[in-house]
Amino acid sequence: MHANAHDLLAIFPPGSDQGHTYAGPEIWTQRDGFERLTRAYDVATEKLVEVARTKALPELREQFGVVRRQCLDCHEKFRTPGAERRH
Ligand code: HEC
Repeated sequence: MHANAHDLLAIFPPGSDQGHTYAGPEIWTQRDGFERLTRAYDVATEKLVEVARTKALPELREQFGVVRRQCLDCHEKFRTPGAERRH
């Protein structure tokens, strides 16, 4: 599922080339929450692609904001706490 995020990275480069090695243990201990977030993210990114096809800029900007919040939301919960500290 997270492969989607990485496909999206190709479309919206985050300006970061850090290694992808900070999967938090909560991904496995809180499986339901993680799957709920990935499903919501799938829906939101599909919609983003749809909106992009229409080339409607205000809507595209808004939907990108939705996806962006989901990136941050999931990272807050499921990326290893202190990943930044270990750099
Ligand atoms: C459903 C959960 C989830 C969503 C949604 C999600 N990510 Fe992630 N992401 C993770 C997890 C967990 C990791 C840490 C795993 C790893 O490093 O392999 C990660 C790692 C990353 C990393 C690696 C850098 C680092 O600090 O470890 C980048 C960059 C990243 N995500 C960008 C994004 C972007 C951009 C989006 C939205 C477009 C996104 N992610 C959406 C869960 C998610």
